[in-house]
Amino acid sequence: MTLTNHTPAYVTNRGAAYCGDALALLAELPDESVNLVLTSPPFALQREKEYGNRSQADYVEWLAQFARLVQRKLKADGSFVVDLGGAYETGSPTRSLYNFRVAVHFCDQLGFHLAEDFYWHNPSKLPSPIEWVNKRKLRAKDSVNTVWWFGKTRWPKADVTKVLTEYSDRMKKLLEDPAGFYTPKKRPSGHDIGKAFAKDNGGAIPSNLLQIPNSESNGVYLRGCKTVMAKQHPARFPAKLPEFFIRFLTEPGDLVVDIFAGSNTTGSVAEREGRKWLAFEERRDYLAASVFRFFGEEADDEGFKSAHDAIMDGRQVDLRRVVYGEPKPTKPANGSHYPIKPSQSLLLLNEGGTTAGLKSNRPVASVNYRKPGRTPKRKSLLSP
Ligand SMILES: C[S@@+](CC[C@H](N)C(=O)[O-])C[C@H]1O[C@@H](n2cnc3c(N)ncnc32)[C@H](O)[C@@H]1O
Repeated sequence: MTLTNHTPAYVTNRGAAYCGDALALLAELPDESVNLVLTSPPFALQREKEYGNRSQADYVEWLAQFARLVQRKLKADGSFVVDLGGAYETGSPTRSLYNFRVAVHFCDQLGFHLAEDFYWHNPSKLPSPIEWVNKRKLRAKDSVNTVWWFGKTRWPKADVTKVLTEYSDRMKKLLEDPAGFYTPKKRPSGHDIGKAFAKDNGGAIPSNLLQIPNSESNGVYLRGCKTVMAKQHPARFPAKLPEFFIRFLTEPGDLVVDIFAGSNTTGSVAEREGRKWLAFEERRDYLAASVFRFFGEEADDEGFKSAHDAIMDGRQVDLRRVVYGEPKPTKPANGSHYPIKPSQSLLLLNEGGTTAGLKSNRPVASVNYRKPGRTPKRKSLLSP
């Protein structure tokens, strides 16, 4: 899907990234068209440092403007997932309640339903704030973000079997030898631990504490940034975070939107997971660098530069994978940029989650084959 009144900075087989104010871009989407809005807004304190000067006092109302629109655009069984880092009050070792106020306001005033509160523990987070933790040693380090999962209704679509985790060693032993492990009995709590407990369900139900170190290599993205001397996005979340919610709350073909996309981690995961996606980001430099996430490992400096320059110049980059048998476009639309090397048009992530990285127009296992000579129809991202 492309928004009627805006040109995307880049398009892929499954998604489009737009530069602009998320409020204006969200307004363009048809109502009840989105399955999942998953985002990490500028946090109250970060706004002071990085993106302007929004104080904690008016933060909730600022974010609520977006949330009202999100609510209209979500399908009835759609979800809104918001990752918010904790913060301290200015000048004192007391916690700000802004992230909790967001949850209360969204439910009490906007009519969202808190489906579940998640906590993202980032064990690799550096100790902060320095004053209270390192210097005065008055507080423990703050390494947990609140991640609110809101439903538009009380019954958002969800399937926890899609995000099972590895069994504990104890459970693995039980599954190997249920009889030898223990005799089924009643626990002091009254729960009946019967034989059914020894059934292998393919993995354990995850908890709402997500332990994900933010120490991913971000290989191609960082290499691209280095090549074009672009600043890396300062507040990226790890791919495992959107991956969890995309798998949990959507199905292949569903539409996922990140309204504060930054380096477009969400879009790149959605692409790999076979979901349609849209990304909105107000800073063109962040968006121009985010295109590298869709490049294969073999991407070269020339490819990085040409795509980055095109986006910075306001031209659209088309990264849709060449489909075998599909006639190649001969005349790019005005203002469009097509990657200059054949390999660059084949740089998307394939269905299995690894980069396609093809050197030629060889067929890709995951593409839809079309009969040679027939004009390809681009499917709307919003079509079922
Ligand atoms: C915390 S970052 C998101 C980082 C992202 N999750 C990632 O992994 O790269 C928030 C982003 O929201 C963007 N932003 C702030 N206000 C915006 C607005 N009104 N419309 C679109 N983007 C906005 C900022 O420029 C910033 O890049």
